[in-house]
Amino acid sequence: MRRIFINYRRQDSEGYVGRLYDHLVQHFDPAGVFMDVDSIEPGADFIHTLRAAVAETDVLLAVIGPNWLTITDEAGQPRLQRADDFVRIEIAAALEQGKLIIPALVGGAKMPPSSALPDDIAALAHRNAVELTHQRFAFDAQQLVEAIKEAVPADPSFKTRPDPQTLRRKEEMLKAVRDDLVNATTSPLYVYRTAQGYFPVPGEGSPDANILFLGESPGKAEAEQGRPFCGPSGEILSELLASIGLQREDVYITNLLLDHPPDNHEPQPDELAFYTPLVDRILDIIQPAVIATLGRFATHYVLGKFDLLERRGKMTDLHGKLIKARMPYGEIHVVPMIHPAVVTYRPTQKAELKRDFQKLKLFV
Ligand code: URA
Repeated sequence: MRRIFINYRRQDSEGYVGRLYDHLVQHFDPAGVFMDVDSIEPGADFIHTLRAAVAETDVLLAVIGPNWLTITDEAGQPRLQRADDFVRIEIAAALEQGKLIIPALVGGAKMPPSSALPDDIAALAHRNAVELTHQRFAFDAQQLVEAIKEAVPADPSFKTRPDPQTLRRKEEMLKAVRDDLVNATTSPLYVYRTAQGYFPVPGEGSPDANILFLGESPGKAEAEQGRPFCGPSGEILSELLASIGLQREDVYITNLLLDHPPDNHEPQPDELAFYTPLVDRILDIIQPAVIATLGRFATHYVLGKFDLLERRGKMTDLHGKLIKARMPYGEIHVVPMIHPAVVTYRPTQKAELKRDFQKLKLFV
C-alpha cells in the first residue's frame, strides 16, 4: 500500500485539500492517505509525533495556497517562521528523512523562493511542483496520481512467505553455487585464494530475501572468514540495516567478485567475466524484489545487465533512485547506493547513505 501524507494549512487550502483527498482515495487505499495527525496523546512530544507520522509514509504532498507563506499567528508572526509550526515541522522531517516530496500549488499560488523559507525547509523550493487548478481539477489531480504511482512502487514486497520445501530447494541451489566456486580451478583468483589459505565468499543471508545487497569484492577480513561484509564496511552496513529495522539475516548479502582480489584491486574484466555468471545464478535463486547495489562497479554491472538507460549515469546522480527492471519472475527495483567503505574514509557521507537506506523501507 502506498502511504501519502497531505501537508497543508487549513486557512490556506482546506477546500482544495478536501477535493484532493476525495480524488486520491479513489486511486489509493484510503487507509494509506493521511490528512491530519489524528491525535496527539496528552503529554506527548508533538514534534516527535509529527516526525514519526511522516516517517511512516512514502510521499508528502505539500499543498501550498496563496497565503501559505504569509499567514500569521495571533501575535502577527508568520506561522511558517515559527519553529513549532506543524506545516514546517512535517516538511522539514520529510526532507531530512529523504521522503519523496511533491509541492502542490493551489489557488494560483506560486512556488516560494528558497530565500523566503526557513533554513530547514529551504530545499522545498527545489522540488518540482504540480499545479492544481480550479478549472481543470480532475485532470491536474490525475496527473498527480500518475506521478505518485510512477515514483512509489505499488506493492514492493510482493513476496509471500515461501513454504519450507521452496526454502530447502533454494538452500540446495545456493550450496551448488558455492561448490562450483570452491572447485573452480579456472577462476582468475583461485591460485591466489588457495596460496593465501583464504575462503571463497559466495554470500550469506536469507535464501528468500526481499532485498539483496551486491557489493564489490570481499576484503581480507571477509576472505579469512568466508563471509561478506564482516570487516569495517560490514559494521557500517549492519548499522544501516538496523536503522531500517533489519538484521543481516533478513536480507541477502553478496558481491560482484566472490573471492578477495590481491590488494583489493578493482574488479578486472577477466574476473567480472568469471564471477558475474555465478552472481546471476544467485540472483535467480534468491529472486529479490530489490537489488541494492553498493558502489559503482555493482551498480553499473546490474544496470548494464538490464540494459537500463541509467547505466551510463554517475553514482552522484544515481544513488538513492528506485529504478525499475524486469526479471523473469517479475518487476524488481534496483537501488544504487554509495559503497559503505566510502563512509570509513569520508564519514560525512553516512547521512546520505542513511537517507538512501530509508528508501528500502518501502520493501521491508
Ligand atoms: N567491500 C565489499 O564490497 N564487499 C565486502 O564483502 C566487504 C567490503
